[in-house]
Amino acid sequence: MTRREARPEGRDIPAGPGTPVEVLPGVWRWADPNGGDRCGTALATPDGLVLVDPPALEDGARRLLEGAAGPVRHVALTRARLISLAQPFGDSGAAVWTPGVPGPLPGGLAVCQLPAGPTERWHVAGAGAAGGQDGEPEEVALFWAPAGDGLLITGDCLPVVGQTPVYREGEAPPPAAYADLIRALLAMDPGTLAPAHQAPPAPEVVQATGYAAHVGTSFHRRRAAPVEGPRFLIPQATRVLEETLLGPVVLRRAVPGEASRGAEGEAPWLADPFACIRCGRATTPAVRTCGGPLIPRLCPDCRGVRRTQPPALRVMACAGGCCTRVGARAVLSAVRQAAAAEGLRESIDVVPVSCLGECGIGPLVGVATAGGEEPAGAAAFRVARRTRVEQFAETEDEELDADSERVLDRFTALVQPGEAPELVERLAASLRGQGAGGTEPAAPAPGKGPSRAPGLAPDS
Ligand code: FES
Repeated sequence: MTRREARPEGRDIPAGPGTPVEVLPGVWRWADPNGGDRCGTALATPDGLVLVDPPALEDGARRLLEGAAGPVRHVALTRARLISLAQPFGDSGAAVWTPGVPGPLPGGLAVCQLPAGPTERWHVAGAGAAGGQDGEPEEVALFWAPAGDGLLITGDCLPVVGQTPVYREGEAPPPAAYADLIRALLAMDPGTLAPAHQAPPAPEVVQATGYAAHVGTSFHRRRAAPVEGPRFLIPQATRVLEETLLGPVVLRRAVPGEASRGAEGEAPWLADPFACIRCGRATTPAVRTCGGPLIPRLCPDCRGVRRTQPPALRVMACAGGCCTRVGARAVLSAVRQAAAAEGLRESIDVVPVSCLGECGIGPLVGVATAGGEEPAGAAAFRVARRTRVEQFAETEDEELDADSERVLDRFTALVQPGEAPELVERLAASLRGQGAGGTEPAAPAPGKGPSRAPGLAPDS
């Protein structure tokens, strides 16, 4: 079976954000007429018209949809907490299905069970907390085989901007849990995605994808997931999810207290390279390497602060294109979040650096004190993972040469987002040792100054 790209159809239906558009035969999508990024899905099934997570349908829009597909017979929700979305349709006689309620799904829909929610609350802008709270059944995704070579309808767990799923740092689950979620979606082998949150395309998000430097070239078309396409559907779903699994696009907001120095109101979400590595406010990114996205750096204000008040530790992670495509940005995000959770946001700067020349063994993470030494906690973390690099090189039939050894003397290779809490715990212990009189032994970092490492982005 060949994959068919989803393309908007039914061009005779007047277009507008709140007007349903037939995006595939028997599938309509529309956006919340009240604003926001919520999108609804309608399916013409043998059981009648089924709506999934439907935002409001204004009278004219509903008449248009029901005129084309018959009356709304069922509403299916991906989370029980979204029940208010179903109310206008339930009031006019539609049956409502929610996770955790016994009874078959209408219209041949199937459930994609998602991993149990972490203890943290899952948030999506405009959606509140997600599953796993107060005994609420977990969120599910819904799968409809007859359309789009397998149409996967996702709920609050997978916000999308344009064609790109985004990881909203601090609101999404920890990166390792997010990866489990993406794996669960991939297990459905979907041909097309219909996300419940699909904002219009944003160039900054496109420029944050793993193949950003190749966008628009034939290389990009061959190798990367699409970054352009209809707002109301995402073709090549498996490629999109695979790329999200390996190189998620991270969105950040200014940290509380910093936002007030900028614009009034809630800070906007920024694609990672355009957010200051310390405060998260908008800034100009630095260079890019290895065909990847731009590399974030400090904003001018934070640069001034760090000249006079350097952090106790810098965690440096390669953010070149090759490392980005195997998860380096997710590692950076995980370390940033772990440091914040430990109350070390001011003591530890998480610094993306450019290509270290060892692209085959990324993501690479190193740590330096203000004096340019490797703290003992970081050295222990690195040494404990040395064997796996050797085994990896053997499996890949690669040689760790003298250049590799130089990098491996300072950086841990093949770091995964789930290892960030351990690294930060070790660093916290090192900092406590320093605070108790600076007695903690630190390994010298060969040939490195206090604030610059190989590959460090300019003005970081
Ligand atoms: S991109 Fe990270 S080592 Fe080259």
